Amino acid sequence: MSFRYGDALGASVLNGMSFRVEAGKQTAFVGGFGEGKTTIFKLLCGLYEKGGGRYLLFGRPFEEWNLEAARSCFSEVSQNIFLFPGTIRQNVACGKEDATWEEIVEACRNANIHDFIAGLPEGYETLVGERGVCLSGGQRQRISIARAILRDAPILLLDGPTASVDREAERKIQEAVDRAAKGRTVIVIAHRLSTVKNAERIYVVSGGRVAESGNHRELMERQRIAIARAILKGAPVIILDEATSALDNESEALVQEAVRALKGGRTILMIAHRPSSIAAADRVVRVGGC
Ligand SMILES: Nc1ncnc2c1ncn2[C@@H]1O[C@H](COP(=O)(O)OP(=O)(O)O)[C@@H](O)[C@H]1O
Ligand SMILES: [Mg+2]
Repeated sequence: MSFRYGDALGASVLNGMSFRVEAGKQTAFVGGFGEGKTTIFKLLCGLYEKGGGRYLLFGRPFEEWNLEAARSCFSEVSQNIFLFPGTIRQNVACGKEDATWEEIVEACRNANIHDFIAGLPEGYETLVGERGVCLSGGQRQRISIARAILRDAPILLLDGPTASVDREAERKIQEAVDRAAKGRTVIVIAHRLSTVKNAERIYVVSGGRVAESGNHRELMERQRIAIARAILKGAPVIILDEATSALDNESEALVQEAVRALKGGRTILMIAHRPSSIAAADRVVRVGGC
């Protein structure tokens, strides 16, 4: 598929983007900011029409679908979670109008948020929104996941569910996603490879197209080999541009070790978005703004 926002003068956002999502499995898109990941979701749900190419939904050209029927195939947990002023129960139940009490609790259990809600003085009747209880980003994510589970659409889209939460919240969300994935097709957008370990297939998006694909282990190995190659080349300056951001803790530690071992006489420049990636640095420059 190809796509640009606005008229023909707009910059091309998707450019020969090609992928296949298998029903009943978890598929992930990983890539940097502004590479077109969220745009893929917008096209999948029919919020925008693709420019060129082909889009088959359950094997049928998207153009042949009734738009409402096509949209009902998806439930989405977006980057900006919207909770309306009301109770937690109402905010979950809006996923399904005739939801029973048992269904709501079951969805919240699966989304790993039931214990938290049950522990509040007013439980499911706690008010959220402007004048209600203040929820963390991770809690909002899990309420939104409960809503999506309740909606029970065949395809669940998750846009960066763990992007801006700490490790503990990340773990809870991850568990929720894995449970929600049972019997569903899940497509998840992530910033780091380590958060999509369970995906059957991962597409690395760059410049509006798929740069690489594979499972977690394959991509991790390729990244480690690329870093090893850069080090072995023997040049006086080695540049690691977010090279370890995608790695899991174990691989990251291996790279740190290699960097520490070879510092003698060589200059290493690292760009990172996590402090743990630059633990071996002699000097850290923090870049502000964008
Ligand atoms: N509604 C829009 N109108 C115009 N440009 C947009 C719009 N939404 C996103 N873009 C641009 O499209 C590109 C891809 O955006 P997006 O899909 O949100 O990236 P990602 O989710 O990978 O961070 C970016 O350059 C962004 O500025
Ligand atoms: Mg995005």
